[in-house]
This record gives sequence, C-alpha cells and structure tokens, in this order.
Amino acid sequence: MNSDTSLGAFLEQIRACGFSFISKMPPTPEATQQVLERISFIRPTQYGSFWDFTSQSEPVDTAYTNLSLSLHTDTTYFTDPAGLQLFHCLQPATQGGGQSTFADGFAAAQHLYKVNPDYYNILSSVRIVSHASGSSDTFGTFMNNAPHAGGFPVFTHSAPHIRPHPKNLTQIRWNNDDRHSGTQWPSHERMIVWYRAARVWQELLASKEFQWEAHLQPGRPIIFDNWRIVHGRKAFEGQRRVCGGYIGMDEFLARERMINASLTAEARPESSQSDETQISDKEKANEKKIKKEQVEEEEIEEQREDKVEPDVVPQKDEGVDRPIAS
Ligand SMILES: [Fe+2]
Repeated sequence: MNSDTSLGAFLEQIRACGFSFISKMPPTPEATQQVLERISFIRPTQYGSFWDFTSQSEPVDTAYTNLSLSLHTDTTYFTDPAGLQLFHCLQPATQGGGQSTFADGFAAAQHLYKVNPDYYNILSSVRIVSHASGSSDTFGTFMNNAPHAGGFPVFTHSAPHIRPHPKNLTQIRWNNDDRHSGTQWPSHERMIVWYRAARVWQELLASKEFQWEAHLQPGRPIIFDNWRIVHGRKAFEGQRRVCGGYIGMDEFLARERMINASLTAEARPESSQSDETQISDKEKANEKKIKKEQVEEEEIEEQREDKVEPDVVPQKDEGVDRPIAS
C-alpha cells in the first residue's frame, strides 16, 4: 500500500473480486485511517467519519450491539450508498463469537436468476423504502430521499430499460433491519411474491454455498465493495473493538482508474516505444520512396511525350506499349 504499484493492484483486486485483505499493518486506528485516506477521503455519515467502537449499552444501531447480524449491505437508506467499507478488528471478542460473515451478492443473484428468474425479476423491479431509525434522536430518520422517495429495488441494473439480467447488475441493497413500512406495493399479489422472493434470497445468501466466515484479527483488516459483498456478524460475548470507515463508490472507482492508468503508461517498456519510433521511421522512409518513384515516373512520362511525333499517339497493342500511326 505504500507504493502506487501495490495500491493499484490492491484496488484492482477489490474491483475484480469485491474484497481484499491487508496483511501485516499496525493494529492501530491511526494506521487504519491512513490506509483509507490513501484511497480517498473518508465518507462521513450520521454516525461520524472514521469510526472506532465497542458494544454499547444504549446503541444507536445494531452494529453497536453484541447481537448476531444477518447478511446485509450498509446505508441502504441513502440515495448513494457507501461504496467501500473497511473493518479492522483491533480486539477480537474477549469471551468468544463475533466472527464476520460475508457472501458475494453478485454470485448469489446470478444463481437466483438461474433457479427462479421470476424472483430475480421482482427483486429487481419493486422499490423498497429503507430507513435508519436508530439515528433519529440526533439527525431525524434517514430514508431514501428525493429524487427517489419511493425507494430502490434490491437489485439495481445498468440497463433498467431492458429485462433485468445479472450481467447488467451493478448494485445490491439488502438489509432486513432497515426496511421501512412506507413501501408502496404495486398489488397485494406482488407483495406476497416479493416476500417469497426475499425469503429465498436471504436463505441463499446464508447458505453454505455462498456464505463464508472470517476471524478478523488485529493487523489484518478487510475492505470490501458494499454494492456487491453482503456482510454480517455472529453474536459475541465480552468486549470486541472494531474500527473502520467508508469510501464513496465514485471516489473508489476514480482512484482505481487513475492510478492504474498512470501505472500502465509509466510501465510501457522502452522497446515498445522504440518500436513505435521504428514504425514511424519506416512509414516516413516508405513515403519518401513512393514520392521518389512518382517523380521518376513523371520524368519518364515527360521524356516519352517529348519523343512522340505530333500525329502519333500511344496505343496498347497486344499488351505492348508502342507508338503506332493513327
Ligand atoms: Fe453493516
């Protein structure tokens, strides 16, 4: 992460796989914050900017309890949910539990499309309103705000005008605890189908096929794409300390693109540059040769015209050019 090369590879891996671990870094909040700021500025939310927390007796969010958390994405209630999220466990649960859980939402969605395209379709089309009720004392209830007061579907696609398909899937919003009662259902029947689809989706994410566990350790944080990877946590006993923060999706993608584009330009081998030069020189030499040949042909033509008698014109006869009488 210290060099641009390693940062570029690190960001590339997150973009390709959805997550990456960082090894052997100092187990401190300061070092963790520096890692985030190597990528971009930390995105502040109603919970603050860089966070560092243990379980609380009066939590403002389930994240600050010691309860089990089912797989979800964060900030579903924002118009623009957080792009990357970093977790650095500075103190594993002192009396057991607290393992982190993850699943690749894109892979699970692709599977759902295969086994039940109707369920995939309804999760892609019905807009769900989400809110952050826990923060109401200080900020008011965060909800999906204008211009999408009607909420967002669980699956968002880059081409919404055509039938939803996993190859166009760009974002997952999924948090059972953040769902709001204000969702406007298209019909009672559609609502029933949506809940059936949601149940299958949740079970799929939590299945052995898709969910995996990680024992986060001090000095080895994980950073992941919050639009793709769903995360959760097992219940725990005792104290557990975790720090981390968010990076916006636009900031992440811009940084990844810029740093890898500049590295590619710098890493272009000398030989390929000289190849270009050679090609350029060859082209110039070729042009020169063609011009010379043209000049020579013109000179020959002029000489030929000088030799032709006024009442004689050149004609082709059996493939041989020669002056004949008209
Ligand atoms: Fe979360």
